[in-house]
Amino acid sequence: MARYIFPKGFLWGTATASYQIEGATNEDGRGETIWDRFSHTPGAIYQNQNGDLACDHYHLWREDIKIMEFIGLNAYRFSIAWSRIFPEGKGSLNIKGINFYKELIDTLLSKNIKPVITLYHWDLPQALEDKGGWLNKDTAKYFSEYAYLMFKTFKEEDIIWITLNEPWVSAFLGYGFGVHAPGKKDMKGAFIAGHNLLLAHGLAVQAFWENGTKGKIGITLNLSPVYPASDTPEDKEAVQIQDSFTNRWFLDPIFYGKYPEDIWRIIEKNRWNFNYSSEDFKIISLPIDFIGVNYYTRAIVKKDSENPYWRIKHVSSENEKTEMGWEVYPKGLYDLLIRLNRDYPKPIYITENGAAFNDVLDGGRVKDEKRIDYLREHIKEAYNAIRDGVDLRGYFVWSLMDNFEWAHGYSKRFGIVYVDYSTQKRILKDSAYFYKRVIENNGLED
Ligand code: FCB
Repeated sequence: MARYIFPKGFLWGTATASYQIEGATNEDGRGETIWDRFSHTPGAIYQNQNGDLACDHYHLWREDIKIMEFIGLNAYRFSIAWSRIFPEGKGSLNIKGINFYKELIDTLLSKNIKPVITLYHWDLPQALEDKGGWLNKDTAKYFSEYAYLMFKTFKEEDIIWITLNEPWVSAFLGYGFGVHAPGKKDMKGAFIAGHNLLLAHGLAVQAFWENGTKGKIGITLNLSPVYPASDTPEDKEAVQIQDSFTNRWFLDPIFYGKYPEDIWRIIEKNRWNFNYSSEDFKIISLPIDFIGVNYYTRAIVKKDSENPYWRIKHVSSENEKTEMGWEVYPKGLYDLLIRLNRDYPKPIYITENGAAFNDVLDGGRVKDEKRIDYLREHIKEAYNAIRDGVDLRGYFVWSLMDNFEWAHGYSKRFGIVYVDYSTQKRILKDSAYFYKRVIENNGLED
């Protein structure tokens, strides 16, 4: 029997995000966000759904913490809605918003559940979008002011802070491809947004160090290891481009203060050049404590001369896919962690990993075997990475409960807890009981 027992103090958590679970979008002074606006735009979201109610976590959070306690989590990752703190993104603050998170954080701490807080999980205050959003450099400054207030408010607490969740997704899906809020479609804009997001991260890190906050600070990136469709030099080159575009585009500036060169070539060829200063890169690369990794699947690519931008094409494997159409490939997590440890050495948290499957509630039970298999195999690979020298400190399942899955609305269920949206009843899936055992044993036996 193989045993996969994790180091003492390893964090076992689940993750959520404000817009995906909170609801109460018009309560207690919360300002409008780009996701409110986008989800109320006809045709933007599956079946025109929105996050107005979501999981009603804003009212049910005490019950949700009880579920966390039952599962035995020692950490919980969630995000603060910037527009509950500054309804207009800047200027006058909303004390009711601060109090909501204060109570949540105090309660978590009193239950020995470590808060892991994302400051920005895509819900930009609409008032700032009206001034250009992430295309406007000032947004980075306003973000750092909001971050500073949070660091000051929770200065004495042992919190893990995450500046941004997946800036790649904010930039490219929000401003490049237009499938996420604010729904803009301009590749040049995506690169500008990406740069300003990186700057926002750096300025927040600066605010963190200046304030002398007790906790730790890092960033969460969506990273995918890339494999060639064949051994040809063309496909190997495609791997380099894809890797630069999705992984290194954000990793390199944060760790080494510069963008990958092959991306510059693409930018220049397409005349997407934008303004930046060397001072920006000094701020972007200020030291952080850890890197947060969201891992769902890998990429397989081949060369494609028809593709206007990158000249690459994604290829599908025969392996099982989740409801999102994402290949189940646990070994990719191992490969990714080993590579990060080599090229970007820092403590790592897996801040999201999980899967959407077609869950069926039957007689009050959800037998989500596929999700259990998915989690088990990824946890094993996380263990293997630690065994082989990676400084991995925690693992967070996406998600605690089913929620509003962005453009897919409520059609994709990622939770280990089932949410009946008509009653807001929470029902623990079999995977929640599986995860409870993992946490009790600090790992698994197989
Ligand atoms: C990640 C997001 C998270 C959720 C999962 C499925 O990209 O950070 O909010 O949507 O994907």
